[in-house]
Amino acid sequence: MRALRFVSSNPGKFREVREILGAYGVEVTWERRELPEPQADTLAEVVFSKLAALPRGSGPYLVEDSGLFLDALGGFPGVYSAYAYRTVGLEGILRLLRGRPRGAVFRTVAGVGAGPEQWTVTGATRGTIATRPRGSNGFGYDPIFVPKGLEHTFGELPASEKNRLSHRARAVRRVGRRLAGAAPLEKQM
Ligand code: IMP
Repeated sequence: MRALRFVSSNPGKFREVREILGAYGVEVTWERRELPEPQADTLAEVVFSKLAALPRGSGPYLVEDSGLFLDALGGFPGVYSAYAYRTVGLEGILRLLRGRPRGAVFRTVAGVGAGPEQWTVTGATRGTIATRPRGSNGFGYDPIFVPKGLEHTFGELPASEKNRLSHRARAVRRVGRRLAGAAPLEKQM
């Protein structure tokens, strides 16, 4: 079995990633810590700087960064989603969208670092922003994000359903497919 160390402070992300990669025969262990996030314009820049902050000689590592991009606000909060969540929160986002189109896309960039090799994959899920928070499953913006084609928010859906449809699931399945078809990752970093 291949193994990856998922570095994140978010237990919800870890549960999702472990479940998805298990199906590809990849065992995910959790290194619970916050990595420095530079002020950057793209999720990919954040992911590469997270990979660069990891110690050499251990790994291979999996890191990711995600954001909610609102159509009516030119993609804001996007790469600043954690800041927006901490400051204005779900109610602030709902206020900003009052009277505006409610389309949105959730994006994830996932990165794998093993020795000199580093690569990233992306995943995205389109949807709309609900008019009020609904459901208590998941984390972050889950109670206000309704994936396209469904009526329930991620917060109302079982974890298995979020993992079928989510931005993170799409990126992480790409990681799984790539690892399943690849030679063993180097243990050195
Ligand atoms: P980060 O990837 O941890 O930087 O996430 C940015 C912000 O988006 C944080 O406030 C997260 O809680 C939120 N977020 C990331 N992924 C998800 C998700 O799958 N559902 C809901 N919120 C998310």
